[in-house]
Amino acid sequence: MANVTLVVCGGIAAYKACEVMRGLQKAGCDVRVAMTQDATRFVGEATFRALSHHEVVTSLYGMHETAIPHVEAADFADLVLVVPATANVMAKLACGIADDAATATILAAHSDVLVAPAMNVNMWRNPATQANVALLRERGIRFVMPASGELACGYVGEGKLAPVEDIVAAALDLLGKAEGVGDAEGKGTGEKDAALAGKNIVVTAGPTHEAIDPVRYIANASTGKMGYAIAREAACRGAHVTLVSGPTALEAPEDVRRVDVVSAAQMHEAALAAFEGADAAICAAAVADYTPKAPADHKLKKTAERLDRIELVETADILRDLSARKGGRVVVGFAAETDDLLAHARQKIARKGCDLIVANDVSRADSTFGSDTDRVAFVYPDRVEQMETLPLERVAAELLDRLGTLLGEVR
Ligand code: CTP
Repeated sequence: MANVTLVVCGGIAAYKACEVMRGLQKAGCDVRVAMTQDATRFVGEATFRALSHHEVVTSLYGMHETAIPHVEAADFADLVLVVPATANVMAKLACGIADDAATATILAAHSDVLVAPAMNVNMWRNPATQANVALLRERGIRFVMPASGELACGYVGEGKLAPVEDIVAAALDLLGKAEGVGDAEGKGTGEKDAALAGKNIVVTAGPTHEAIDPVRYIANASTGKMGYAIAREAACRGAHVTLVSGPTALEAPEDVRRVDVVSAAQMHEAALAAFEGADAAICAAAVADYTPKAPADHKLKKTAERLDRIELVETADILRDLSARKGGRVVVGFAAETDDLLAHARQKIARKGCDLIVANDVSRADSTFGSDTDRVAFVYPDRVEQMETLPLERVAAELLDRLGTLLGEVR
């Protein structure tokens, strides 16, 4: 297993470093992270800690395990990879400045160093930046040059971080193991990835909107973050993911087929259709349980027409209907409760006929709708596993580990 120390600097593209890390991990690399203080303003240290399963180096002055974290992070590395590299950090490298954990880690490196810059086009073109790049190249530092395109600052031109897959490929190339890249059939993936690689997985996510009239609807507080995190993680593990999404403000994760729906009825139809060729389904959506019986085709007037009573009818239960069709396939549901969590979750698993329920107490501040953490229990027909409060990405990873096990069981 190759070791990579990923140095993350403070630019908008810092979030792409997460995807670079996942690409490296998929190819079997162990990745540690060092960050500048500015980088922590773009992506939280907790995200990298959760994704890398290691402490993150953000300071020169010691962590629990080690007194000199930047030297340890440099010694660990078969490759130091800087993503994104800002103009400022490259200038410091050119001068040998090591005034924070990130630049000190790079200066202490005795492995190859690969740098992926990202910045505004004028900062990139500035003669100082270009001279620094030339000098660093002369000294043997390798680059994945930025691409041209629309930049986060609104300019169009060079400065866009190179595509994630190019950065991962360049890193693996330097590590001498390029043949493992992007193998979705499981050849180059770890054991847990192999369980999901090539599998077709349907994920439902987000709320549904149930129309009262053309401008009013009944909705709920779901943001879709949990379902999207699951879809992203499953795709990273090589699964073919169909994300059936209610209305959310989230961007579709890379390599995921997103089917947009609005109402519970549309989600039901899309999820059942996608499940036909699937190996598993995960119902993370907060589906409306009731919908207006006869939505008006015009905006209802509050005085002339009654708005104080809306007749509702029950929606079809997607989780139950998928479970009824599953045969030997795996279906996972969620249970959002505010009281008697485990008792309700146990009833739900029996009522719906699914294989596993992810139960969370949405009355807790660390598990509420919209939160970036969740404290869940995995409820099986015969046992319960209670988890600590974890970032959503880790909850997704833990869930997919369990899905992998269920998929591997003889049914
Ligand atoms: N679910 C679904 N279709 C519905 C309602 C719920 O697929 N029409 C799924 C959700 O995606 C979730 C699970 O069922 O995976 C449980 O949802 P929840 O709202 O907690 O439970 P309900 O079945 O609505 O029961 P209750 O309202 O009594 O808690």
